[in-house]
Amino acid sequence: MDIVDPRIEAYMAERLKRFDEPVLLEMEAEATRRGFPIVGRNVGVTLEVLARSIGARRVMELGSGFGYSAYWFARAVGPGGEVHCTDGDAANTEAGASFLARAGLGERVTYHVGDAVEQLSLLDGPFDVVFCDIDKTGYPDAWRAASERIRVGGLYLCDNTLGYGGGTVFDDGDGPEAIREHNHLIAQDERFVSTIVPTREGVLAAVRVA
Ligand SMILES: C[S@@+](CC[C@H](N)C(=O)[O-])C[C@H]1O[C@@H](n2cnc3c(N)ncnc32)[C@H](O)[C@@H]1O
Repeated sequence: MDIVDPRIEAYMAERLKRFDEPVLLEMEAEATRRGFPIVGRNVGVTLEVLARSIGARRVMELGSGFGYSAYWFARAVGPGGEVHCTDGDAANTEAGASFLARAGLGERVTYHVGDAVEQLSLLDGPFDVVFCDIDKTGYPDAWRAASERIRVGGLYLCDNTLGYGGGTVFDDGDGPEAIREHNHLIAQDERFVSTIVPTREGVLAAVRVA
């Protein structure tokens, strides 16, 4: 089931052609070739807009794959900013390091191999943004850990909060159940004000207010 009418997605993507550059196109082609679930350009730009809107300089990604979403955060934080990438598969972080270095963004990005929530616990200090895109059954614990580490005024962002891989949050199964729990926990948390932007498969954005 398409969450957004494909014609709307295509219309939005057509507006983003000016971001075409060789490394980004190569990453998008790599995702298509491998069937790898990157966030895609509409969500990528959404992440950049949201991160820039709060002047984010320090971003933590839970589940970075080969660095596609990190590309957009690295643009947002600017020179001297920090994007921490995590992935359980070292081959992904190595590929990400190579892509982002070639895109001229390498100095802003650090890679951590291992369980994303555990890697978060090993890093000091608050973050301006924590972005979650790990296995869906891990979403509730990712939220519990991340929500403690975001500064007031900072953002928790999470992909696939309405569905993933063609399924939706209404389906049976551990993944949809975990997403529902995650979304419920956030909606009830008075430290944050949140919404789900229904782009692609749903980008949850929660701003910390207390
Ligand atoms: C959906 S992909 C991430 C895509 C990436 N955010 C992008 O848009 O380019 C999920 C990635 O998270 C990794 N992953 C899943 N669960 C994880 C976990 N608990 N800890 C670390 N990495 C995890 C997978 O290896 C995979 O590369």
